[in-house]
Amino acid sequence: ASPTVVVIPGDGIGPEVIDAALKVVRAVLGDELEIVEEQAGYSLWKKRGVTIEDETIERCREADAMLFGACTTPEDPEAKSPIVTLRKELGLYANVRPARSWPVPRPVDTEFDLVIVRENTEGLYTGCECEIHDGVTVALRKISEEGTRRVAEVACDLAEERSGRVTIVHKANVLKLTCGTFKRVAAETVERRGLEWDDEYVDAAAYKLVREPDSFDVILTSNLFGDILSDLAAGLMGSLGLAPSANLGDDAALFEPVHGSAPDIAGKGIANPVAAILSAAMMLDHLGYGEEARIIERAVEEVLREGVRTPDLGGSATTEEVAEAIAERVATG
Ligand code: NAI
Ligand code: MG
Repeated sequence: ASPTVVVIPGDGIGPEVIDAALKVVRAVLGDELEIVEEQAGYSLWKKRGVTIEDETIERCREADAMLFGACTTPEDPEAKSPIVTLRKELGLYANVRPARSWPVPRPVDTEFDLVIVRENTEGLYTGCECEIHDGVTVALRKISEEGTRRVAEVACDLAEERSGRVTIVHKANVLKLTCGTFKRVAAETVERRGLEWDDEYVDAAAYKLVREPDSFDVILTSNLFGDILSDLAAGLMGSLGLAPSANLGDDAALFEPVHGSAPDIAGKGIANPVAAILSAAMMLDHLGYGEEARIIERAVEEVLREGVRTPDLGGSATTEEVAEAIAERVATG
């Protein structure tokens, strides 16, 4: 049976880049995937007063994978972020964010190819914040052994196919208990898998990422650190519009560009579709179409090298022109 994919284009440039990604997927796979399109985000909020519907979450649960564009988060405190809801509901505990040098203008010339594995459900993002006295607020940081072990396993899966080494990024010199647990359980997991590990403090890792990005392969880190380091890595790539990601759980997988709905450029047809296209390639890889995923990556590389680039990369091509060029390249092998 053909795999079922729930596609959620979302708001702003979400639908623009998802259109582009589906065009490329069709060029490489024809109509092999069963695509179910669902609405979520700000547009749905305005119509129905919810950002994602229960039926959509159920369809996601039954699907083989999800492809997500980006959603604008309404300012209303009642409105939940659909992507955060999906991560929670589907147990998507590992956020995998590859970053590599593409042939485009970059702030640092060094070639690199790394992947950040970010814990996606605990750390400082548990939502447990309160005011303990007048004017004194605190946030709870949760690091569990089980939460660390399961995300470390994902980092090991990747390391096995790459250098065999995992770099654990933490701040255990200050956060002795929470980061101490993260480092210890991560290291134990890597050793049990027969792989190598080293570690860096997060501040040193940020410094080293800028100066020697090629010294990293698989980075394993907690939620907030991973959030920040992956935007840094996107900066090294030359644009957020090049950064794909996967959100993985035990029985669900959601693929999305790292960027948001970019209201400043929405509707202009100039959003960089590469992050969404590479996210779709990661999805194909996950669904067992590894060869097709490689074909897409090669096509992206060639098209970027030829200078078919959107304005965020200093080019003058439109979203459609970039998608068209990649789809054409994919179709001719
Ligand atoms: P953003 O990622 O949407 O935009 C940041 C900057 O990068 C903007 O200048 C934008 O024009 C540029 N940019 C982003 N993607 C691009 C692309 N593909 N091509 C060219 N330029 C691109 O982040 P921002 O502005 O902080 O958030 C805008 C909205 O998106 C907010 O409502 C936010 O809550 C939401 N958001 C949603 C996410 C999701 O659905 N996963 C993730 C991040 C933000
Ligand atoms: Mg972020």
